[in-house]
This record gives sequence, structure tokens and C-alpha cells, in this order.
Amino acid sequence: MNTRKSTIAIDGPAGSGKSTVTRKVAEQINYLYLNSGSMYRAVTLLASQREISPNNRTQLTDLVQKQCQIDFADNGKKTLLNGIDVSEELRHPEIEQQVVVIAKIPEVRQEMVKQQRRIAKNSGVIAEGRDVTTVVFPDADLKFYITASIEERARRRFNEFQTKGVACSFEQIENEIRIRDQQDKSRQHSPLKKAEDAIIIDTTQLEINQVIDLILKKIKEDQ
Ligand code: C5P
Repeated sequence: MNTRKSTIAIDGPAGSGKSTVTRKVAEQINYLYLNSGSMYRAVTLLASQREISPNNRTQLTDLVQKQCQIDFADNGKKTLLNGIDVSEELRHPEIEQQVVVIAKIPEVRQEMVKQQRRIAKNSGVIAEGRDVTTVVFPDADLKFYITASIEERARRRFNEFQTKGVACSFEQIENEIRIRDQQDKSRQHSPLKKAEDAIIIDTTQLEINQVIDLILKKIKEDQ
């Protein structure tokens, strides 16, 4: 599909399917896939490598501002932290547990927003996260809010971990998603919320391909 170079932004809670959908749509329309969650995860990984506590705001601010460059390679499939591919490490459950705390820090968010806009500067981009429709790209050409029931989202995340052989229980995953939702939605800075002009897609009963088709249709209509 040929599209003019524009910015498409997709927000939604954990496990809504937005990462898979965004990645596949990006491939189809040949846009850069910008996964902003991976960037917050990369900061969390870097803090852990440097043994900085997720609660140490001063050290974390210094870290993100001076020693943390995040880029994407392979059209967004790989996340590079200071030039090194860390894509696999970012999915570890311990990063998953700590990322919410680090993502609350305003200075971390400011730096990530700056880096997200830098990455999006020179190409058509399809970005996903919690605040890309509201804060990072408020003027995006097209916005979506993708969601699903908590049970369905927990089931998807549980299956993902099972496939990768990560030990966990369904109840534990469901509980973590519930807590993460609550924290993402209630934090003071850039909470997860639906942008007024976002198209809402509930994926609870939908297959991934149906969601992709829906989005591609909207992009085509917007041309
Ligand atoms: O999307 P993903 O689950 O990888 O995001 C991990 C965490 O990063 C989220 O739970 C949220 O706390 C944070 N995040 C954020 N703003 C974004 C994207 C992710 O605060 N735009």
C-alpha cells in the first residue's frame, strides 16, 4: 500500500494486541514501527545494569539525559540501547515489574518524548504506547485506542510467556496486568487515556488479522 508520509499513533493498555498489530501494519505500509513501551523498558534495563534503584529519581534523570540513546533497527523489530540490541532482555518479567515505576518519572518521560520525536522526524511512522496519541504526537494524522478485557489480555500474555518457556501462573499475570493498568491510568504525568479524536477498537472478540484489516481500511480512507 502506498501512503503519504504521515504519523499514525496507537495507544492502549498492556496485552491489548497493539504491539503485534502496529508492527504488522507498519510492515504493510512501509512505515517505521516505533514501540515507545520498549523505550521505557530499555531505560529500566539500563538502570538495572547500572544498579540504580527505580526510585532514585536524581540518578535516573542523569542516566537518561546523558547515557541513554535509544534507536530502532530492522524497521522497529529491534530495540538498540546505546547501539546494542536488547530486544529479548526487554521482555523479561523483572523488567515488566519495574518499568511502571520508572515510567512515572517526569524527567524520564520528557527525555523519551524528545527521543521519540527525533526517531519520527524523517519518515512515516506508526507509534504505539500509552501517551503517543495524547502527548508525544497530539497532531498525529490518525489515532487509535486499542483495548480488550483484562481476562483476554492476561490470557494473551500468559500464552506468550508459555511459548517462551517463562515460568508464571495465569493468576499472577492477570494480577500484574490489573496493577499495571491501574498505575498507567492513574499516574500524574501522561496517564493512559483515550484521546478524544482516537478511533476505539475493542479486540476482545477479534483475531489479530481482523484488527489489522480494520486499521488498514481506516488508513486508506484517510489518504
Ligand atoms: O507497551 P509495554 O507493555 O511494552 O509498556 C511497558 C510499560 O511502559 C507500560 O506499562 C507503561 O508503564 C510504560 N509506557 C509508558 N508510556 C508509553 C509506553 C509505555 O509509560 N508511551
